[in-house]
Amino acid sequence: MFAAALRESARVVLPVAAVVTGATVMASANDEVVPAPNYPFSHKGPFSSWDTKSIRRGYQVYKEVCASCHSMKYMHYRDLVGVAYNEKEAKFLAEQIEVEDGPNDEGEMFERPGKLSDVFPAPYENEEQARAINNGALPPDLSLIAKARHGGEDYLFALLTGYREAPAGVTVNEDAGQYYNPYFPGGKIGMPLQLIDGAVEYDDGVESTASQMAKDVCTFLAWAAEPHQDDRKRVGQQMLTLFAICAVIAGYHKRFKWAPIKNTKISYFK
Ligand code: HEC
Repeated sequence: MFAAALRESARVVLPVAAVVTGATVMASANDEVVPAPNYPFSHKGPFSSWDTKSIRRGYQVYKEVCASCHSMKYMHYRDLVGVAYNEKEAKFLAEQIEVEDGPNDEGEMFERPGKLSDVFPAPYENEEQARAINNGALPPDLSLIAKARHGGEDYLFALLTGYREAPAGVTVNEDAGQYYNPYFPGGKIGMPLQLIDGAVEYDDGVESTASQMAKDVCTFLAWAAEPHQDDRKRVGQQMLTLFAICAVIAGYHKRFKWAPIKNTKISYFK
């Protein structure tokens, strides 16, 4: 009976302890996935801001490598202004795409060059077409992917750089468009290895190794999912500073008001 009670309390206490200490409780139902390591991205931490140079390079990787399969339907060209590009550069980038607009005075749709207010172009017309071209697998929209996956940018980095030979006993049907990646739940992913050394040529001269590109595109995707992170952190710090100052003033005020009461000696005479 005592053992049962112990077991029961452990069942309650352990998950709570794990949450309190920040330890990750792995889902035991699926052992075929490797948890992503905690990578030292420079934008992590309460006092650090986005690495905008990395965001700029990451956008280039997205545009030149990922955009042929993945849409980013919540991202506009104007979002890049002031972060990765200036207005002129972003306008130039937008003008490189053709957008269907209209109808015009004759009631017809027409093509025009992109504007800052346009969203990034989608590679496929619809989900069915995307699946048909990718052996049935659907390349998800990447606008919020860093928030939509457990582990965020750490998971994305591990996934992009984690392709390897399938271990003995695991069969992967490459002819059906399956590839082995231990970080993808289940281990078999419908996306081939994307990042190989030198796949893009950075305009700032940074060497485009596979891991450099993965870091940059993950920083870009993390930023896309949470563009206001820097503001949030700054306001948080301002509020904490303000609260600290208020606490000191309130403490002093309390002592000031109570001092006469606490120091007064009251004597009673019969
Ligand atoms: C040739 C097409 C293609 C390209 C190019 C491509 N992907 Fe994918 N991607 C896919 C497909 C297909 C899937 C769906 C895989 C599945 O569900 O098995 C996918 C899935 C993903 C996922 C989701 C994994 C998950 O947890 O569900 C991420 C993240 C991703 N890709 C990132 C990228 C990034 C970043 C790039 C550019 C460096 C890129 N992809 C380039 C086809 C592509």
